[in-house]
Amino acid sequence: MSGPRQPRHFGLIPAAGIGARLGAGIPKQYMPLAGKPMLAHVLDTFAATAVIAHTFVVVSADDGYIGDLVAAAPHWQGRITILFHGGADRHASVLNGLNAIRTQVSDDDWMLVHDAARPGLTSGLIEHLIAALRDDAVGGLLALPVVDTLKRSDQDGRVAQTVERTALWAAQTPQMFRYGLLLQALTQATALTDEAGAIEMLGLQPCLVEGSPRNFKVTLPHDVALAEMFLRS
Ligand code: C5P
Repeated sequence: MSGPRQPRHFGLIPAAGIGARLGAGIPKQYMPLAGKPMLAHVLDTFAATAVIAHTFVVVSADDGYIGDLVAAAPHWQGRITILFHGGADRHASVLNGLNAIRTQVSDDDWMLVHDAARPGLTSGLIEHLIAALRDDAVGGLLALPVVDTLKRSDQDGRVAQTVERTALWAAQTPQMFRYGLLLQALTQATALTDEAGAIEMLGLQPCLVEGSPRNFKVTLPHDVALAEMFLRS
């Protein structure tokens, strides 16, 4: 006799940004890092993680790079689906992606939303997040406790205030929430930089799960060397 259906875990990778701050001349997610494009690192990791049932990637409708990326990675076949539904910002790209897969997932399946710009993610970190949230009613995210002393600046770039860092965390991705809850939260929310913020607007408290420095977001030109160091290690 079979028991109740176990919720599945899906990856959702918003990859429809431009990444202007990196100044690479191509969209950031296609920039080569340690021998392959940033997005390929992320998709290799998701495709190789057995607990992930399938991964969806959201790119812009006129993306001219993804075709070559997929053609060069036959091992993604059956593991990765490309959705040409990118939006004006990250929030819109994730929401469009969720709406596009509505018939393929159940409300209680888990969605792991992960930035294409965090190529340092590992299968171990994905498994750590899933294990930590297995019985959680809300869901949560990888994050790192803040270790530096924090300063708030004034308009002249001088210290206006020292901010108490106790209990402060820096949010990373994946951010992992059930499909139905996440769709509801992102549909109602405005002006967000992450999924957890939308869940918080519903009055819920996402769980913080300790991540890793190697999972940092590649944003500025000087991040490239650090990312390559982690990816080669
Ligand atoms: O620009 P930033 O690094 O903050 O973007 C975070 C993630 O959101 C990246 O993976 C980027 O490709 C994605 N994004 C998106 N659609 C947008 C803007 C950003 O999918 N319109």
